[in-house]
Amino acid sequence: MTVQINAKPLADFDRPIDMLVDCHRRIEHFLGVIVRVLERYASQPLDSEARQALAAALQYFKISAPKHTADEEQSLFPRMQSVGAITPKTNELLEQLRQDHQTADELQGRIDRILEQWLASDDSLPADSLATLRADLAELKNHYAAHIHMEEEQIFPSAAKALSENQLREMGTEMRSRRGLGNDRHGK
Ligand SMILES: [Fe+2]
Ligand SMILES: [Fe+2]
Repeated sequence: MTVQINAKPLADFDRPIDMLVDCHRRIEHFLGVIVRVLERYASQPLDSEARQALAAALQYFKISAPKHTADEEQSLFPRMQSVGAITPKTNELLEQLRQDHQTADELQGRIDRILEQWLASDDSLPADSLATLRADLAELKNHYAAHIHMEEEQIFPSAAKALSENQLREMGTEMRSRRGLGNDRHGK
């Protein structure tokens, strides 16, 4: 399954905050993939197309999504806090977002384990795993919806105002090296 983000070109490391927004669209995309596979294959074994889709989503959440969290916790939030111009309210929001990341990690870990069990099996999911997966996915979707809204409506606009060109450039460089990329401008 390809990742099409509103048919507009993806941002590159010269626009690190826009890249964070692109990552949110990928998170939503892959959560949607899991939900669609779950609903269609709830009572039947996975076929090869569903397996591929689930494996891609699992890979995204295990490999790429943690890099997005690191981009925020290691490259964005500390720079915002170092500027000193952000309000106590914004500082509180950053703390809330860090806690949200832990909650998302825990939920995602449970979801990943069930998806791995499903991919390793030739049968449909057992009823208890199916119920757990449904509940955890619904919770994670709600959780991300609120979290992403807070980041895109409050934190990223504050960052765009508060950070200097130089800080944004440093952030982009860190994000690039986090993905093991040299001069490639479009790594995910
Ligand atoms: Fe976040
Ligand atoms: Fe985010």
